Amino acid sequence: MLDWTQLNTTCSNCQSCVLGQTRTNIVIGRGNINAPILFVGEGPGEQEDLHGQPFVGAAGQLLDTLLEALMLKQDDYYIANVVKCRPPNNRVPTDDEAEKCLPYLRNQVALIRPKIIVCLGSTAAKYVISKDIKITQIRGKWIERKGYWMMPTFHPAALLRDQSKKVLLFRDIKEVKQKLHNIMDEKDN
Ligand code: URA
Repeated sequence: MLDWTQLNTTCSNCQSCVLGQTRTNIVIGRGNINAPILFVGEGPGEQEDLHGQPFVGAAGQLLDTLLEALMLKQDDYYIANVVKCRPPNNRVPTDDEAEKCLPYLRNQVALIRPKIIVCLGSTAAKYVISKDIKITQIRGKWIERKGYWMMPTFHPAALLRDQSKKVLLFRDIKEVKQKLHNIMDEKDN
C-alpha cells in the first residue's frame, strides 16, 4: 500500500491508460483524509481536469449545495472518482481505464478507512459494488461489505437532466447522515 505522498507521485506520473495522454491535471480527491464518509464519482470533467480537484463543476456545486443543506460538515467526507483523469468529452470510462485506475481508489479506501462509501451514479456502483447492477434497482439500499457500509445513489449530474431524481438523492444522503450518527453513537456506547 502506498502512503499519500507516494500515491500522489504515482498518480501524477501515471500513464497506465490512454487518459494519461490527454489530462491537464490528475484529479486524486479532496476533503478530509480521515473522514468517515467517502463519496465516489465517475471521473473528472472539464473543470475538474483544469483545477485538479473533483466535483468543482456544475455537478459538484449541486453536490456541495446538497451536503450543506443536510448540514454535513466538510470534515465528514472525502470525494474521489473511479478514474483520476478526464475521459475526452466526458465519455464514460472504458473497462480497461477503470480497471487500470481502480487500485488507486482501493489504496485511497485503505488509507482513509471510511465507515461509509457513497457511490454516485452507475459507474461508481459498477466498479465499487458489482459489475452487473442497475443503479435504478439498487439505489437507496444499504450494502455491507468488508466492514464498509455502501450506499449507491444517483450521480448529481443526473439531476441536472432530470429534476425528479432530486428527492431521491436527497433522501439517500439523509440516510447516509443518519447511518453516520448511528455508527458514532454505537462507538460511544
Ligand atoms: N463528475 C464526476 O463523476 N466526478 C467529478 O469529479 C466531476 C463530475
